[in-house]
Amino acid sequence: MAKVAFIGLGVMGYPMAGHLKVKGGHEVAVYNRTFAKAEKWAAEFGGKAFRTPAEAAKDADFVFTCVGNDDDLRAVTVGKDGVLEGMKKGATLIDNTTASAEVARELDAATKEKGLHFIDAPVSGGQAGAENGVLTVMCGGDEAVFEKARPVIDAYARMVGLMGPAGSGQLAKMVNQICVAGVVQGLAEAIHFGKQAGLDMEAVVEVISKGAAGSWQMDNRHKTMIAGKYDFGFAIDWMRKDLDIILSEARRNGAKLPVTALIDQFYADVQDMGGNRWDTSSLLARLERK
Ligand SMILES: NC(=O)c1ccc[n+]([C@@H]2O[C@H](COP(=O)([O-])OP(=O)(O)OC[C@H]3O[C@@H](n4cnc5c(N)ncnc54)[C@H](OP(=O)(O)O)[C@@H]3O)[C@@H](O)[C@H]2O)c1
Repeated sequence: MAKVAFIGLGVMGYPMAGHLKVKGGHEVAVYNRTFAKAEKWAAEFGGKAFRTPAEAAKDADFVFTCVGNDDDLRAVTVGKDGVLEGMKKGATLIDNTTASAEVARELDAATKEKGLHFIDAPVSGGQAGAENGVLTVMCGGDEAVFEKARPVIDAYARMVGLMGPAGSGQLAKMVNQICVAGVVQGLAEAIHFGKQAGLDMEAVVEVISKGAAGSWQMDNRHKTMIAGKYDFGFAIDWMRKDLDIILSEARRNGAKLPVTALIDQFYADVQDMGGNRWDTSSLLARLERK
């Protein structure tokens, strides 16, 4: 059993930290910017809540972060009272935020300078994946460090893989999001077409989901999409943050992402419709807009 700290108890972090305590059996210290959430977590799971990231990280062998974007991540790590001020030599920082490969490399260098280790470890699987402890985790970092971290990460994961050096986990998550964007737009167009054609789309999906058109998005989102409900997980504001990171990276590495860039603009339309917190399947709402 390890001593663990978890920074950022949002939709994802709250249940992930819970699995580290309950399933992993680790001793867990938590920090959340809104302290009441940290107190609630501590009362529910029996860990300890701290007022700063540095204090929470002080005795930990592994420090997890799961916050919003690059700047939020910098604030809780290299910022004032960030975890790097508190971590003991030899400890490992594991970042579950979806962030840029650039900030992962920055944190890799900053931790190495202090005799610490770093793994970028963004996740896929959504709120349900976090709550059920079955996330997919894409890691970047040194192999020996990864091998020590992996059994701890296992507490909230179904699949954990090392993709390469620091930043590679974030790059793999970008690949994941490129796939998701295209699949969701395709599914939205398919459902829109089927409804216009007067088909019973529940019946259609029941059949075609077993064939070549089947996907996670189809299995998990078709019912709510058909019902016009978009309150089931990953918010569009977060998706646009991810697409922004992806399109910047593509400008650097020369990849051509014409459809991904277009879908980013479709999501901008959905934000204009007031859908900032709707889930990513709301691309259908844009097609059905009168
Ligand atoms: N939700 C999903 O389905 C999903 C799936 C895969 C990956 N992700 C990624 O996972 C990360 C977290 O997502 P989430 O859905 O858990 O977000 P969320 O519910 O909005 O939670 C964000 C957490 O970060 C904290 N935070 C944000 N900015 C901060 C700052 N500057 N300083 C300190 N703490 C800060 C928030 O604290 P407060 O409580 O004080 O606001 C909160 O604990 C994001 O990078 C997201 O893209 C999300």
